[in-house]
Amino acid sequence: MSTLHKVASSFVLRVLLVLSSAFRRYRSVAENGGRAILHKHGRIGPRVALQCRALIASHRHCGTIWIGRGYLLRSDILIITGGGDVRIGENCSIGSFSFIQGNGGIEVGDNVRIGSHFKAIAANHRFESLSLPIAKQGIISVGIRIGSDCWIGAGVTVLDGVRIGTGAVLAAGAVITRDVPEHAVVGGIPARVLKIRCDYGHQS
Ligand SMILES: CC(C)(COP(=O)(O)OP(=O)(O)OC[C@H]1O[C@@H](n2cnc3c(N)ncnc32)[C@H](O)[C@@H]1OP(=O)(O)O)[C@@H](O)C(=O)NCCC(=O)NCCS
Repeated sequence: MSTLHKVASSFVLRVLLVLSSAFRRYRSVAENGGRAILHKHGRIGPRVALQCRALIASHRHCGTIWIGRGYLLRSDILIITGGGDVRIGENCSIGSFSFIQGNGGIEVGDNVRIGSHFKAIAANHRFESLSLPIAKQGIISVGIRIGSDCWIGAGVTVLDGVRIGTGAVLAAGAVITRDVPEHAVVGGIPARVLKIRCDYGHQS
């Protein structure tokens, strides 16, 4: 075999090896028109329903997505890692047209209800310098944590670095720039505490 043939066949072999290991690292889960592309360490629990055009995508070098059991993703949702882990607890749901980008990491507890058009992006562009374009100044990523049993209204945006306490209610259209205490109801831009939830007992 000529040297050229040897080099060509070893190149082809290497490409095949890389491709086959890449395919083993990723799993694709499709259901009801939605799709999850997960790195082998990513996990979605049983009874996770993905409606049409919902997409969850994680990558080996840039974070992993875990989703607990009993999760409902409505249509046209996008969840990407963006360099950080996204971890969503059990029995949660997210409304249509929502976008989650992990960056510094996003954690959502159990039994969380999220309305449509929700946005959580755990990153900010740096912009201290006037001599460098913002695009070249890098980003800061701290991470977002949302406690269990929260209700997040439609059109809410949660900014990076925010911690949302257990049982909080975020009113429709709120932009959450600061930590939210447990059981607080917050609303507005920037969101302020409207009241603290009291337990009057459950009426069905
Ligand atoms: C917050 C919410 C749950 C109402 O809670 P509530 O306890 O009934 O509150 P009230 O209607 O008594 O309002 C309390 C105060 O909050 C204010 N408020 C209510 N909703 C608000 C909102 N989205 N943004 C800003 N302020 C709001 C009210 O104006 C009122 O202010 P005031 O005391 O100065 O008059 C409701 O307004 C809301 O945003 N629901 C989300 C609906 C939604 O997105 N559904 C789909 C997702 S599943």
